[in-house]
Amino acid sequence: MFETLQPAPADKILALIGLYRNDPRPGKVDLGVGVYKDIDGRTPVMRAVREAEKRLLASQDTKTYLGLAGDTGFNAAMIKLAFGDKADHSRIRAAQAPGGSGALRLVAELLQRTRAGATVWLSDPTWPNHPPVMRAAGLKVRDYPYFDAASGAVRFDEMLAALRTANSGDVVLLHGCCHNPTGANLDAAQWAKVADVLLERGLLPFVDIAYQGFGEGLDADAAGLRLLAGKVPEMVVASSCSKNFAVYRDRVGAAMIMAKDGAQADVAMSQMLAAARALYSMPPDHGAAAVRIVLEDSGLRKDWETELEEMRLRMLRLRVAFADALRRQSNSDRFDFVASHRGMFSRLGLTEAQVERLRTEHAVYMVGDSRINVAGLPEDGMDDLAKAIVSVLD
Ligand SMILES: Cc1ncc(COP(=O)(O)O)c(C=O)c1O
Repeated sequence: MFETLQPAPADKILALIGLYRNDPRPGKVDLGVGVYKDIDGRTPVMRAVREAEKRLLASQDTKTYLGLAGDTGFNAAMIKLAFGDKADHSRIRAAQAPGGSGALRLVAELLQRTRAGATVWLSDPTWPNHPPVMRAAGLKVRDYPYFDAASGAVRFDEMLAALRTANSGDVVLLHGCCHNPTGANLDAAQWAKVADVLLERGLLPFVDIAYQGFGEGLDADAAGLRLLAGKVPEMVVASSCSKNFAVYRDRVGAAMIMAKDGAQADVAMSQMLAAARALYSMPPDHGAAAVRIVLEDSGLRKDWETELEEMRLRMLRLRVAFADALRRQSNSDRFDFVASHRGMFSRLGLTEAQVERLRTEHAVYMVGDSRINVAGLPEDGMDDLAKAIVSVLD
């Protein structure tokens, strides 16, 4: 049965983790893998999540099926977290999904059911899992220009020009905040202009929000999504709790639909749940139940927000310190964009060969496209790291 199969290409980031683990050099630096890390390089369970899990364990007296949409309290809380209070909640629905990836796939399946083979426009570059997830559902993908590697800025005019060539009914995937892999984000005025083009061309926004709270703050990070929700008739959203609740392995996310009215939202939701039934039936409960307990309990929620804010501010401090060190070591402002980027990632604009030299000569690990995980920056070794980077530049 399997003799005709060729091995699937290795996942580059997972391969990098293996190389890092086996590297005996002291002082090695891991800027590769995309999880938040504290000053000791750990990714701890958040305090409020741990407490919610204790309560869950003490109170849960059955593990019978919950249903295709998962935990309805979780879904309501996730809608509020993403859309805020002001959106028209009567026409928004959410289904709990296995992580942000599961939510992306669920939304993609819904799109395929409503417009088979539709084109989804993705930023160039984007998270490498976006194209395969969209294609797996039967959708087509195209790119819009997004990032200027030399300046670290968004190529906004080119992005808009590309979107103006899209056909009515095409879908535009936008990173809600903390763009992965670049760290370069749209400002409020740019979101408004994107909304105008979406309306003008009849395009459907698909917002992927996987880092809410990691950029400018919980509400500020959803500002673009909320601005769109106030302007467009319909949109879809995939959100993830992997990072902002640090529940990576529990697989917690939500797929959301904002339709023209409540009746259309119900129909779309029923189709999305039918897709879930065929994919995995029901989402895993534990992590979503813990997140729901945190979001519904004012004390736990406050503690979660405090810890999330500590994480966000740590990443901001690291950004500024790293940009300062790079300025000192390179005698230039070439890398100043690192301080103005937001989220867990920045793309430095190095060549693959330079990234390889950093690994072999300096035990500095980053993804081949020179994406760094800001949370992995060494607080006490910024100048050494900046010196190493500058040394491979020519
Ligand atoms: C842009 C983006 N979307 C979605 C996800 C989904 O993450 P998960 O499936 O682990 O919740 C990620 C995770 O790295 C991401 O970077």
